[in-house]
Amino acid sequence: MGSVTGRPCVFVACVLPPAAAEPFRDRYDAVFNATGRVLTGDELVAGILGAAILVVTATDRLDAAMIARLPASLRIICTYSVGTDHIDLAALAARGFTLLSTPDVLSESCADIALLLMLGAARRAVEGLALVRSGTWGGWMPSQLLGSDVHGRRLGILGMGRIGRAVARRARGFGMALHYHNRSRLDPALEEGAQYQPVLQDLAIVSDILCVACPGGGANRHLVDAAFLDQMPAGAIVTNISRGDVIDDTALVERLQDGRIAAAGLDVFAGEPAIHPAYRTLPNVFGLPHCGSATVETRREMSRLLCDGIDIVLAGGRPANLVL
Ligand code: DGY
Repeated sequence: MGSVTGRPCVFVACVLPPAAAEPFRDRYDAVFNATGRVLTGDELVAGILGAAILVVTATDRLDAAMIARLPASLRIICTYSVGTDHIDLAALAARGFTLLSTPDVLSESCADIALLLMLGAARRAVEGLALVRSGTWGGWMPSQLLGSDVHGRRLGILGMGRIGRAVARRARGFGMALHYHNRSRLDPALEEGAQYQPVLQDLAIVSDILCVACPGGGANRHLVDAAFLDQMPAGAIVTNISRGDVIDDTALVERLQDGRIAAAGLDVFAGEPAIHPAYRTLPNVFGLPHCGSATVETRREMSRLLCDGIDIVLAGGRPANLVL
């Protein structure tokens, strides 16, 4: 597992910014993906050669076929993400690999983006920016670009995990009334003043604004479907900071087009980067390119957390960010 220097060999298959590459370079014999793009399966397997530790991210799909190709010399897989829906966890467990991820350190940055999405959607940021940039803005008018307030409105949080709770803390400061749905109720001390809605459809009914913050994939695919959207109050707003597949795009786009849903703020999309084409043109869609955790500080912290986890595993311990 060690190199001639005696340090563990790590293959970093994803492209990391300099600040995030540093901890890997400092602590290990690290080889980095220098292509600037996502590696093919063959390139990934070739890059691992001799490495005991592999670092991937959400765009590197580790399905059962890919996992079957991973060399037995590999011991630890790190995903530079909190989401693990790109990994076949059962196949990974069957091969006995250790998996580490990046919980907690990105919750606050992702929650900031959630508020940006809500405000951008509610206050018609796409149309406002277009007006300023086009040079066609004729000056202030009382009737211009009327959006809707977020204060005083009900926010429904779908998935009250670490990120959902960070969203709730911020939304309280914006004067919103909070509701949430999870599979089970949280300890009241963790609810951030939000009211638990045990039935998914009941969350829809009370959500003037919805924030999707639950993991993607599996049973969560299309949780927000036509039936859910039709239970939401007229003129509601939908935002998503977790994974695009939680929302049925066809159903949402139809309702954004006819105004039943007033606006959407989306940082994540099904099939990224080949997103539903309507999201590129609808004026009531405030879209961002999956940048919830994209700050220099958070990116650095994600690496530090993974490296700390690697060191604990190599020393025989159980890090807090252990998935498998
Ligand atoms: C995460 O950490 O899961 C981000 O969404 C990047 O994939």
